[in-house]
Amino acid sequence: MRKKIVAGNWKMNTTRPDGIELAEAVAARAAEVPEGVGLIIAPPFTHLCCCGKRLKGTKVELSAQNCADHAKGAYTGEVSVDMLKAVGCQWTILGHSERRQYYGETDEKLVEKVKLALGAGLGVILCVGENLDEREAGKHFDVVKAQTEAVLYNFSAEEMKHIVIAYEPVWAIGTGKTATAAQAEEIHACIRNVIEAKFGAKVADDMTILYGGSCKPSNAKELFAEKDIDGGLIGGAALKADDFLGIALSF
Ligand code: 13P
Repeated sequence: MRKKIVAGNWKMNTTRPDGIELAEAVAARAAEVPEGVGLIIAPPFTHLCCCGKRLKGTKVELSAQNCADHAKGAYTGEVSVDMLKAVGCQWTILGHSERRQYYGETDEKLVEKVKLALGAGLGVILCVGENLDEREAGKHFDVVKAQTEAVLYNFSAEEMKHIVIAYEPVWAIGTGKTATAAQAEEIHACIRNVIEAKFGAKVADDMTILYGGSCKPSNAKELFAEKDIDGGLIGGAALKADDFLGIALSF
């Protein structure tokens, strides 16, 4: 069965006290969200642990925003999958466009990270998406197809059960310029076909594919009504509990 999910990527926002307040506010109202809709928050590393504690006994799950591409050792500044697991993470986001763009995240590195995350028992939210130049050049389908294949074709059908894909067109992130429901849907359908081509119809049908990029309470309903859009990966609007929950209540 395909899961519906609304996940909040807090990026490099909130201090520890702000983060705790936000996690508590989300947790307090999580029960209002329909049973079939999963909620995930991804605070910065420094407050994963204390935010995670506020989620105990609620339906809200905890995610990191990234993980190291090595299991342990002399990698100054990095955070391993075992460390994430030990502070209560169930998920990690990987391959966000900001990491690809500013921190040199390559598909090869992402394969290593996904392997480590799955090996540690973490679910993965893998981000893909074209930038503005690629969209304007009409290459968006090819770019997203190539990103999806380059990482996910290294995994098994069994492993795919622990992976969620987030389509985030770079030109829509933090710009207020949302992809139209039709623009998002055609890419989501393309991603599902890419999954089907390698793993078969059942895996493709069960795959949760989220949309991210200026998603907010006012446009979530239209996006989520599309048949291949199974929820959202939310940036700015995840920093206000009411907006985040408003999106989750749009199903
Ligand atoms: P915005 O919702 O702020 O556009 O960010 C989307 C995003 O990058 C989530 O990962």
